[in-house]
Amino acid sequence: MASIDNFQFAHEHRREVAWMSQNTNTLPMHPAVEAAIKTSVEDREYNLYPFKRGIFGLPEAIFADLGLDEADMLLTNGGIEGEYIATRALLKPGDEVLSTDPSFLPIHDQIAMASAKAVEVDIYRKPWVLTPESADEALTPATKMLLLIDPNNPLGSGCTRAQVRGLAEVARDHGLWLIDDITYRDFNPDHVLASEFYPERTLFSYSFSKGPGLAGMRVGAILGPPAGLKELKRYDTNVLGVNVIAQRAALAALESKKEWLPKVRRACESNQRTIQEAVGKVDGAFLPVYPSKANMFVIDLSAAGVNPDVVEERLLHDHLVHTRAGSYLSRKSGGKFLRVSFSVSAADCRRFVEAFPGVVEKLRA
Ligand SMILES: Cc1ncc(COP(=O)(O)O)c(C=O)c1O
Repeated sequence: MASIDNFQFAHEHRREVAWMSQNTNTLPMHPAVEAAIKTSVEDREYNLYPFKRGIFGLPEAIFADLGLDEADMLLTNGGIEGEYIATRALLKPGDEVLSTDPSFLPIHDQIAMASAKAVEVDIYRKPWVLTPESADEALTPATKMLLLIDPNNPLGSGCTRAQVRGLAEVARDHGLWLIDDITYRDFNPDHVLASEFYPERTLFSYSFSKGPGLAGMRVGAILGPPAGLKELKRYDTNVLGVNVIAQRAALAALESKKEWLPKVRRACESNQRTIQEAVGKVDGAFLPVYPSKANMFVIDLSAAGVNPDVVEERLLHDHLVHTRAGSYLSRKSGGKFLRVSFSVSAADCRRFVEAFPGVVEKLRA
């Protein structure tokens, strides 16, 4: 059964499924977020087109969250829309974008839509991140952009300050645009923004889907220097703005962030420890990256004698635990791993650890 059919099945059983497949966050949200959504509905804010720049206070709250002063932004329907706008606006046919394998491949598809090409540096090996040295080696005269997903989806690896600085220097030395995809930043207390080293051409892809748990709201942003944003705005098709209810939820999430973020991080820490212990007892399974700097990591199954696609399917259909096989995330190593997200309740995490060993044993029998 193809992965897409698994999603249909999972959505049909939405309430019973442990959602560990999309790096979403199903932990309870701060009450202020739900209250903001309800107030917006009661006020019938949805009757009007929202103010295009964003509801008052939201752009400022995003800048403050990142500590940025001299930036501009476009509010978007999730971070992914901003990445589409950026690739569309900044790439020409034949251009190359330095990226990785594994990666969040839908962005590579967007690069292809601009008739450009993602050059996928293999990071399914130590140190499990794109290093400045490997980026430098993969450069060609056609390279115009560097896509840095930090922390990385699906590995959960994060760059050190020195690595971010090194990558920013590679980008600067070759006049590249640097897309710093910070979708998973909230989960990494040590995260370093590339703009610290290369503000002139760093663009941030910013999301409310993961830390704040608002994936279904579809709200995010693309941010960067005013000159860069000016170029992007030529390709902004969303002239009427982003869902106003989603914007209210996003603003409330930022205003209450100090209260909910420590709890989300603690849950991720505890859940990934639980999964690590269980994986340690399964012959042939290991965690390439632990601890993760995001809300997911991968379980390598290449020595376990099982196919991750079938593991995904059996976990879902026999145990209502939805995970994601690597084929969605890596052309080269996708057959080796299963990605598991753990920003879920302890009870959902337990369902995974109870089901996983048995599924693997049965499949390799
Ligand atoms: C690396 C990366 N970038 C962007 C996105 C898209 O996020 P959004 O929901 O904000 O569109 C995802 C979603 O999983 C992701 O993993």
